[in-house]
Amino acid sequence: MYKRQVIGHLRDHKVEVLINYLPVGSQLATEFYAEICIELGISLVNCIPVFIASDPAWEQRFIDAGIPIIGDDMRSQFGASIVSQMLQELAFERGHHVKAHIQRNVGGNTDFLNMEDKNRLKSKKISKENVIRAQNDIRGISTEDSFLHAGPSEYISFYGDNKVANFRLELEGFMGAPVIFDAQLSVQDSPNSAGVVIDAIRYVYVARELGLVGALRGPSASTQKTPPQQMMFSDAIMECHALANRELTESTKKQLKK
Ligand SMILES: NC(=O)c1ccc[n+]([C@@H]2O[C@H](COP(=O)([O-])OP(=O)(O)OC[C@H]3O[C@@H](n4cnc5c(N)ncnc54)[C@H](O)[C@@H]3O)[C@@H](O)[C@H]2O)c1
Repeated sequence: MYKRQVIGHLRDHKVEVLINYLPVGSQLATEFYAEICIELGISLVNCIPVFIASDPAWEQRFIDAGIPIIGDDMRSQFGASIVSQMLQELAFERGHHVKAHIQRNVGGNTDFLNMEDKNRLKSKKISKENVIRAQNDIRGISTEDSFLHAGPSEYISFYGDNKVANFRLELEGFMGAPVIFDAQLSVQDSPNSAGVVIDAIRYVYVARELGLVGALRGPSASTQKTPPQQMMFSDAIMECHALANRELTESTKKQLKK
């Protein structure tokens, strides 16, 4: 009954893009809406850490239905993930070995409250660590002797929508010279992701106009923590700009509807 109502509502409003902002850990509810997107030809922007765009089986179903999607798990405009990515990239580009990269987050909104439930937290932690680990993988640098940790660490109601992230990087530079980097970032969590989501909606909409299908590589890498293909920041941005200018790249040519 509920499914029929949702379908009716989406049809009545001629919805072309559906944004998934369900509570963290909503596996079945996300799959429910993903199924409906496939049925109705709606593009999904999956902003939560339930793996759809980055799951090849799910992606294939969107390809078969002729729909572009973006996912998974939104990155904020200036949040902990993009800062961690840039720090990891900087360390590697300047020839350092990363001994440890630790990112800890505290906040007081519903998302942090939900993550007190360890079952809901699991996929978020994987997704957050993917951002850092990906920069090793792209460059073929082993993570074996690096301690990588990223995740929400505590719910403190007083913080409200303010999220505070702490970063600690321990590096080895030329001739093993030690480098310690400690920093703190304080942001208002909700609006920090809103602008990025608007970009994602625009990218997926242009992709629909161009006849692209499946999980968009560049826009997913730029706007999400767990995309189907992780990229360096500069490559992801180049893909996004090309799409915004309606130019096809080697990556998007492969995604043209057959
Ligand atoms: N900076 C950010 O805000 C950010 C960044 C990355 C990822 N996310 C992810 O976005 C999601 C939402 O974050 P939030 O802080 O807005 O969480 P939230 O808990 O405040 O909001 C979730 C919303 O989903 C609604 N909801 C619950 N069950 C539903 C259902 N079955 N159908 C329709 N709606 C339902 C709730 O009423 C609520 O409005 C989380 O999964 C979070 O991890 C947020």
